Amino acid sequence: MDAEDGYFDERVAARYDESAADMFDPAVLDPVVDFLAALAGDGRALELGIGTGRVALPLAARGVSVHGIELSKAMAAKLREKPGGEEIGVTIGDFSSTTVDGTFSVAYVVFNTIMNLTTQEAQASCFRHVADHLGPSGCFVVEVMVPELQRLGHGEMFVVFNAGEKHWGIDEYDVANQSLVSHHFNLVDGRFELLSMPFRYVWPDELDLMAEVAGMRLRERWGGWQREPFTSESRHHVSVWEKQ
Ligand SMILES: C[S@@+](CC[C@H](N)C(=O)[O-])C[C@H]1O[C@@H](n2cnc3c(N)ncnc32)[C@H](O)[C@@H]1O
Repeated sequence: MDAEDGYFDERVAARYDESAADMFDPAVLDPVVDFLAALAGDGRALELGIGTGRVALPLAARGVSVHGIELSKAMAAKLREKPGGEEIGVTIGDFSSTTVDGTFSVAYVVFNTIMNLTTQEAQASCFRHVADHLGPSGCFVVEVMVPELQRLGHGEMFVVFNAGEKHWGIDEYDVANQSLVSHHFNLVDGRFELLSMPFRYVWPDELDLMAEVAGMRLRERWGGWQREPFTSESRHHVSVWEKQ
């Protein structure tokens, strides 16, 4: 195991695609790729936390030139193994601070990955770095959950977000510090294994402020990739900021 891989080490990387199988369903993925391909146009796309290429590979298959930033060599190695994986450039590093060559039409960070940055400073730094990588009318897209504080009674800390035969997911909220730990209980070889991962949850308008500080403004906010309205009931949002 390589400690520099962070929480997505070899063991997690080996099971990632299987454990996130629902997210690879074309019914989920096609609208994501449609959305991003339209923003990329003839330009390049930059994925922060590219992982095993769940989004990058089908986006590249549409003819978009995709580059990724990824902390985990183990996750990047899984991407490389796949057909088309060799053609996608990956820079190993922290996406809150890593610089890559050239400019991009669109940068994106999906599947709650912005929350893997566990401080406000790191999340704000991510926005500044993205702005530096975007061309004149470039966009930044974030897909992230709406913090589920409405599901917590006063003083309560735990939200069960999945209760399946092979996986239980429980978020442990620390409201005072605007953070949470996601506890995943996965059935592996007949036994439940625990994997706990820290996150910083973040509010939509806090992201807007980070964008503004970085020289971007909100262009669109949706409740999903098919441009569903964002409402008080939305569980997550897809937000697009553009350079001012
Ligand atoms: C939930 S996975 C998402 C992977 C891929 N984007 C997807 O949608 O399937 C989060 C990915 O972000 C990477 N990651 C987490 N924090 C990171 C950071 N600070 N810098 C670069 N990559 C990071 C993890 O190693 C992991 O591959």
